This record gives sequence, C-alpha cells and structure tokens, in this order.
Amino acid sequence: SEVSILSGNPTQVWMYQGEVLQGDPSSLQSIPDSYLGPIFRVRQGQHIRIHFVNELSEASIIHWHGLLLPEAMDAHPGYAIASGETYTYDFEVVNRAGTYWYHPHPHGSTATQVYNGLAGLFIVSDDEESTLSLPANGYDIPLVFQDRSFDADNQLVYISGGMMTQMMTEMMGFLGDNILVNGKADFELDVETRAYRLRLLNGSNFRMLKLGWEDGTPLTVIGTDGGLLETPVERPYVTLSPGERVELWADFNGRTIGSQLLLKSLPFSGVEMGGMMMGGMEMPETTTLPQGEEYTVLKVNIVQESTETLTLPERLSTIQRYALSDAINADAPRTFEIAMINEAWSLNGRTFQMDAVADDEIVQANSLEVWEFVNVVNGGGMGNMPGHDMGNMGGNDDVMTEDQMAHPMHVHGVQFQILERTVDDAFREGWETISAGYVDEGWKDTVLLMPGERVKLLMRFGSDLGLYVFHCHNLEHEDLGLMRNYRVE
Ligand code: C2O
Ligand code: CU
Ligand code: CU
Repeated sequence: SEVSILSGNPTQVWMYQGEVLQGDPSSLQSIPDSYLGPIFRVRQGQHIRIHFVNELSEASIIHWHGLLLPEAMDAHPGYAIASGETYTYDFEVVNRAGTYWYHPHPHGSTATQVYNGLAGLFIVSDDEESTLSLPANGYDIPLVFQDRSFDADNQLVYISGGMMTQMMTEMMGFLGDNILVNGKADFELDVETRAYRLRLLNGSNFRMLKLGWEDGTPLTVIGTDGGLLETPVERPYVTLSPGERVELWADFNGRTIGSQLLLKSLPFSGVEMGGMMMGGMEMPETTTLPQGEEYTVLKVNIVQESTETLTLPERLSTIQRYALSDAINADAPRTFEIAMINEAWSLNGRTFQMDAVADDEIVQANSLEVWEFVNVVNGGGMGNMPGHDMGNMGGNDDVMTEDQMAHPMHVHGVQFQILERTVDDAFREGWETISAGYVDEGWKDTVLLMPGERVKLLMRFGSDLGLYVFHCHNLEHEDLGLMRNYRVE
C-alpha cells in the first residue's frame, strides 16, 4: 500500500489490513493514514479467531507478542506460511489487561518485514482494570515509536551503502534518521488540561529510547509489558528498548493553553560496540540520528481547558510475586550467555536452528524457574574472529568490550518477574546513563541487558507443551540467530 509519512510523495509500505467479519466491529480500530496495523481491543477471556492471509510475495507468520498461547498460535518461525496461503488463529485471550502487540516472525526476515510496516497493537482489558477510573477513549492514547530512513523520493530505505555498511547493520542493528510516532514523522499530540493514559511501544528494530519530559517533570509509570503495576511509580526518565511497552499517567492539568511540552530521548552511552571492531576496521556512520543522542520524539500541544479531574489511583492492581524459594532451580539458575561468535550472535555458544533444542533448553510445564541472561563475556580480545577457538570463554578475565552490545531479551510463552540485576564494574559508567529508567516492578516479557549486565528472572511456564522461542528483540540480532528454541515438556 501507499501512505503519506513525510510531506510530499506517499511512501510504499507493507501493511496489516484487517476487518471484523463477525462480532464487535470496535474490536479492531484502524489508525487513520498510518501503515500500522489495526489496534485489537479485546477483553480477557474473549475467544477470537483471526484469518491471516499472506499477500506478500514471501513467507510470513504473525506473532502475538506478550500473549500466552499454545504453540500453534504463537508463531514459532517454523509456522511461517508461503505467499498466498492463509493461517487461522483461534484462541482465548488469557492475559491480564495490558498493551501487547503483534508483528511478523519468519526466521531471517523479521527485521525487514517489521521495517516495511508490519506491526500493530493488541490491547487487552479486564475486570480488575475496569474497577479503576483510568483515562479512557480519546484520553487513552497509543504511541508507537519507530525509526525509519527515507530516500529523496520519500521511499523507505532499509540498508543503504556498501558491503561494509550492510554487514555492520546486520550485525549491530538498523538505525533510522527519523523518529515516527504512530507511523508519522513530526507527530504532534494535542491535549486538554487533564490526565491521559499513554501506552508506549518501542517498535524499532534496534533504537533504544530514554524518554523524559524536556522540563524535567518525572514520568508516572502505571504499567509495563504485562499490564498495570500494583502502584504507580515515578522515574526521572524511562528506558524503553525494542519490544518493550510502558504505560504512563500524564496529567497536563495546570499547563498553559498554547504551550508545548516535548518528550525527548535523553543522552545515554555504552549500548553499542566502540568505533572500531574486527581487527581495527572503522565502522561507517549509518544514520544522522546516532543512538544515544538527544532528540525530540513527541511534541505535546496544550490546546484546550478541561474541567475533568481524575486522580491517579494509589493502587492499580494485584500482582502475585513469585518467591525465589518456590523455583525448581532456585540454587542453579538456567543461564544463557550472550556472545558474538564467528560474526553471529549466540546464546550459550549456539545460534538459532529451526528444530534444534539443546539439553539446557527443555523445561517442565507449569514449573517456576529462575533464568539468568548474562551479557558479559570473558574471553580473548579477538574471540569473535572466524575460526578462532572459543574454548577460552569464561576462562579468562579480559573483558571483551568490543563485542558487548545492549540486548533486549524476549521470551515467548511467559510473562516474567525481574528478580535481580547486576553490572560488571567495567561497564558501570554506561549502565548508569540508563539504569534509573528501568521499570522492573511489574510483569515483563522483554528485558534490556546493557553491556556488562546480568539479569535474573522468575518465570512460570504454561501448561501448553511444545516449541517456543526466546531471542533478542534487536530484530537484526534475532534474524542473525540470537534466538533459540525452548521446549515445554
Ligand atoms: Cu516480539 Cu518473538 O517477538
Ligand atoms: Cu513475543
Ligand atoms: Cu541483541
């Protein structure tokens, strides 16, 4: 399809276009003049059937990010259907109220398909949430952030430049020159002087956001990936990596009509490899908007007086905390080390293989486990060179700084709780530029690991048996193999 993103010529995009065949027509809301797919609005307990018709010229499949689903509904890459085929989803929504999303998941082309426009929100409501007076309807605003680059003709450009640029982008991740909000460049939000519920999704391939109001007003966070927090929390800024969602309570009461408030991505450092890598070759600059620079992501215009005064609820929901002592492996976390080996990203030394499941990738249905992701690799300085013996992993204290990057790790089939984070001292400086923006209090399905960071998670697997994936949500890393199966038995 064509949509207008920049002024002037329209842009060719790929789109999810949906219609309701049966049931409540308001369960699908399209976003006018945007490439984003329609927003699903469903209730917990609702049974839905979705026919996915693949009119692309390549294979694809839709993954419902954050939803708890049986294997055949979850879009393991092995379920990808060919051009012209149809896949029918049929499932009950068991998740609690929250902001989930959907996007393609064919192995090796997730990054390009999402980049071309395929993504949408999946919003669930439930009875617990309905007892609260949260801003609703026109005051409940989804904000999807994605970065894109365009050519002189307004057409999307993914990887441009020579071989070296292409290789670098595939290895590190794509960064675009423009921040789009809900599919629009220079997006502005007109608001009244009252409270809003803002549902934020970072739908970028690789770009991390460190979101803060320009005037230093703290952000009030009411929800994370898996729905509402127990109580609102305040942050000076919020760190949002690809795949993550956060819900804000934003009250514009008391602001001057005619004024403008900017939401910015604030400066940070330390998320990607240094300026040199692989034997000292210089990395080309791929964007006019480098990761970690300060820039505006959203302009909020205060346009109208409102007499509506909503108060922020002191209590939002009940979250049953998992206890470490209840985990079946409380003393021995299931550990996955993220490393670059032979120019590919790997988990415990392995890259994605469609059907492969290693011994340490098998879990028991309904069990509560501790998982630990480790983004610190000890090894020799040139450990990433092809043909290099990686037998020294873990056996050497030299930290391989050139290979460390931030990785937002996502696990299918569960919502988890974050138990603990630790950071290696050698990386603390960069870590401290973003760590005050972590919101680890609630349910999560994606967790950012900065270089040098280890994160322990508590997760309970479902009763559905089968093959699920876990992966880095930096989509270029995922496509390059930073993904593995795990099997529920
Ligand atoms: Cu949002 Cu497997 O991904
Ligand atoms: Cu997912
Ligand atoms: Cu990654």
